[in-house]
Amino acid sequence: MARASVLKMPDGFLWGAATAAHQNEGDNYNNQWATWEEQPSRILGGARCGSATRWWDLDVAAADFDRAAELGLNSLRLSVEWSRIEPEPGVFNAGALYQYGQMIALLRERGLRPLVTLHHFTDPLWLAGEGGWENPHVGDYFARFVTRVIEALGDQVTFWCTINEPIVYAYSGYMVGNFPPGVKDPVRAFNVLRRMLLVHGRIYRLIHSLQNNAEVGLAHNMQVMLPANPDSTADRRSAATVDHVANRSVYTAMTSGRLLPPLGFGQQVPQLIDACDYIGLNYYTTVRVAFDPRLANLMLARLAFDPSGELSDNTFSGGPYGEINPHGLYLALKQVAAYGKPIYITENGVPDHDDDVRPRFIATHLAEAWRAIQEGVDLRGYYHWTLVDNFEWCEAWQLKFGLFEIDHQTGARSPKASAGVYGRIAQSNGVPRSVLEKIAPLTVADYFPS
Ligand code: FCB
Repeated sequence: MARASVLKMPDGFLWGAATAAHQNEGDNYNNQWATWEEQPSRILGGARCGSATRWWDLDVAAADFDRAAELGLNSLRLSVEWSRIEPEPGVFNAGALYQYGQMIALLRERGLRPLVTLHHFTDPLWLAGEGGWENPHVGDYFARFVTRVIEALGDQVTFWCTINEPIVYAYSGYMVGNFPPGVKDPVRAFNVLRRMLLVHGRIYRLIHSLQNNAEVGLAHNMQVMLPANPDSTADRRSAATVDHVANRSVYTAMTSGRLLPPLGFGQQVPQLIDACDYIGLNYYTTVRVAFDPRLANLMLARLAFDPSGELSDNTFSGGPYGEINPHGLYLALKQVAAYGKPIYITENGVPDHDDDVRPRFIATHLAEAWRAIQEGVDLRGYYHWTLVDNFEWCEAWQLKFGLFEIDHQTGARSPKASAGVYGRIAQSNGVPRSVLEKIAPLTVADYFPS
C-alpha cells in the first residue's frame, strides 16, 4: 500500500489517448468500412462515419491535440489510413503522406509522443477486392505500404503498433460477421488471425531493418476470462481453454514464435520469435465462462458478463458492452507480464453516454495498474480510449467513449468531467488519494494505509 498521497507511476510513464484514422479523420471512402456502411442494417440506425470528428482538417486535429496537451498528456496513439496513402495497388499518394507528417509534427510540437498504428481495422478497397487478409500476398502488400510509411514518417516516429487487435478483426469479420466482410466461418477466422500474426512478425523485422531505434509491438484486445463458478472444475477448465484460444495463443505466437492450436500445431515460426519490443494491451472487460455441453460451439463454453457486476452501456445487439471490472486490468497485466516484455495499455475505456461512470472507471483502473506495477509489472504507459466521442464501428455514434463530447452540427468540443479527472491523474503522474476519496471512496483503503 502507498505511504505517499499519490499512487505514482514510474518516471517517464506515457499518458495518452488512443484514436484511429477511420473513426476520426472523416471522408475515408476508399476502404472496406465505407462500403460496409452503405449496406442496410450493418450499422446501428443506418449511420455513416461521414466526416467523423474531422481530423483530416489539420486545424481541427491541432485543436484536439491542444486539448490533449492541456490535460497534461504526453503521448497520443493514432493510425494511418492505408487507403489514403495507397489508393490503388502500388500507387502512393505523396500528399497524404505529407499530411500525416504534418499531423505528427503537430503532436510533437505539443509534447505528445506519437504512437502510430499501421493497421487499425480498415483495408483499402482494392485489397478487400483481392480477398483482404485471406489473400496470401497481403504480407507483401502490407510490407510495401509500411516501407513507404517508415520512409515518410520515420524521422518523426519511432514508436509503432503494427496491427490493432488481430483477434477482433478476425473474430468480428470472419466468425460473427458483424464487421466486414461479414463471414461466419471459424476456419476462415483462424486463418485470418494466423496470417495477421505472421505478417506482424514480418513487419516487426522490416521496421527494425529500416529504423534502428524503433519500438514495435502489436495491440491485443484481451478479455480476461474467469470461471463463472470458481468452484466448478468444468468452468475453470472452460475459462482456461477460452483464455488460451483468445489470449495465450496470441501472446505465445508473438514472443516464442510458437503457433499453438488453433493457430497451428505447436510449430515455431522464425519470423515470430521475439517479434515485439512491447505488448500492447487493450483492456475493456472481464468475461465469465461456464462449461455448457449443450452448446454447439467447439469449446462448449458459454460466455457472459457477471450478472451481479456493474455493466456499461448497451451495444447494437442490446447487450452491454461489458462488465466494469478494474481488477480485471490487474489480472490482465499480471498475465501479460509473464511473457517478459514491457507493456503499454494501448486502450482502456468505457462507453458511458452521461459520463457518470468514466471518472471512477479511469481512477480505479489506474489504481489497479499501479498495484500491478508494485508487484514488478513493467508497465510503461496508458492510453485512454478515446479523446473525442467518435465513430464506433457498428455502433456508430451511439457508444460514447470520449473524454470530450462533440456537437456534430457545429463541430464544437466540450470536456466531460472525466477529462478533468484524467488530466489531474496525468499531471500527478499517478492517482492522487484525493481523487479516489472523491469518486471511489470505497477503494481508498485498498491502496492507502489508514
Ligand atoms: C477497440 C478498437 C477501437 C474502439 C474500441 C472501443 O476494440 O480497437 O477502435 O472501437 O474498441
